[in-house]
Amino acid sequence: MEAAWNKGFSRMTVLVTGAAGFIGFHTCLRLLARGETVVGIDNLNPYYDVALKELRLSHLGRNPGFAFVNADIADREAMAQVARAHPGITDYINLAAQAGVRHSLSAPFDYTHSNIQGHLTMLEMARHSDKCRHFVYASSSSVYGANTKLPFSVEDRVDTPISLYAATKRAGELMSHSYSHLFRIPTTGLRFFTVYGPWGRPDMAAYLFAKAIIAGEPIRVFNNGDMRRDFTFIDDIVSGVIGVLDNPPVDDGVKPPCHLYNIGNNKSEQLMDFIGLIEESLGRKAVYAFEPMQAGDVKETAADISAIQRDVGFAPTTPISIGVPAFIRWFKEYHGLG
Ligand SMILES: NC(=O)c1ccc[n+]([C@@H]2O[C@H](COP(=O)([O-])OP(=O)(O)OC[C@H]3O[C@@H](n4cnc5c(N)ncnc54)[C@H](O)[C@@H]3O)[C@@H](O)[C@H]2O)c1
Repeated sequence: MEAAWNKGFSRMTVLVTGAAGFIGFHTCLRLLARGETVVGIDNLNPYYDVALKELRLSHLGRNPGFAFVNADIADREAMAQVARAHPGITDYINLAAQAGVRHSLSAPFDYTHSNIQGHLTMLEMARHSDKCRHFVYASSSSVYGANTKLPFSVEDRVDTPISLYAATKRAGELMSHSYSHLFRIPTTGLRFFTVYGPWGRPDMAAYLFAKAIIAGEPIRVFNNGDMRRDFTFIDDIVSGVIGVLDNPPVDDGVKPPCHLYNIGNNKSEQLMDFIGLIEESLGRKAVYAFEPMQAGDVKETAADISAIQRDVGFAPTTPISIGVPAFIRWFKEYHGLG
């Protein structure tokens, strides 16, 4: 069979996995706002508060262009059923995953299930479609492990992961490369750098800190606060995801049609400055519990985003001085804090 990938198909339906998740929800909202038809998949697993996932879904469900399927992306029969029910799917955005570095130390099989088996099942779904235009998927800055050369560049070696989460995300990149090579599927992987913002994840720093500060409880600050992160605001991430989606790699018949990008804010911030903005936005001081570095964690992340800037014009616009207050406004509203 001659591969039909990337030969002038116009987009019909976008499949977004992890649609009830933080980044998936915002991505669906943006796609729907520009009139796309979106099929969202999520298994609503209880890794964090399911009520938050359901509330995100209820917002998406208000748009007639959105259809939701409650299913596991590693369930091959369920994914085949989605393909049969929605034959117009041309674009895939695979964001469903078991996220979180620390949880991968205690629940490793959640990671192989969703991030390896699930990712492969989605690649297979795209492979057996005759109209896949582009397969975009989430990777992570954690693939850089303990690399010390900063900023992290997609040209750097990433074969020394220091958490199983990172290893599974790197595996997703490698599997995608092989499918682009073998089946000429245009794939693009995005290495996200610490995403935060409204509707954010309860297991991530911004949320954990805000919750503890409100409760008057100590906030756990690792490596005695000597950490830097390339914090990326959710709206900038979504602009990058959709900018990339609109620019599938072109198959020149030689190289596999696959891209890999860093997607960060291009500015590494001191963790203590980030916390200071949370305190300021909440109008309360934190009680600090300084702790040593956690296993699997890295001291600093910084994204070299020149490749995605060059190829799709990605330009993050939200500094933490704007993004953190926006997150806290949502956090207060969500928790009825006035
Ligand atoms: N948020 C960040 O800072 C960050 C950083 C790096 C990478 N990422 C990656 O970005 C993607 C989205 O992350 P997020 O922050 O929105 O996380 P999230 O946990 O909020 O969203 C993931 C969603 O996927 C769903 N899911 C998990 N396993 C599934 C499965 N097997 N089948 C169906 N649904 C499943 C979950 O229920 C959840 O709603 C993930 O791949 C994550 O690894 C996120």
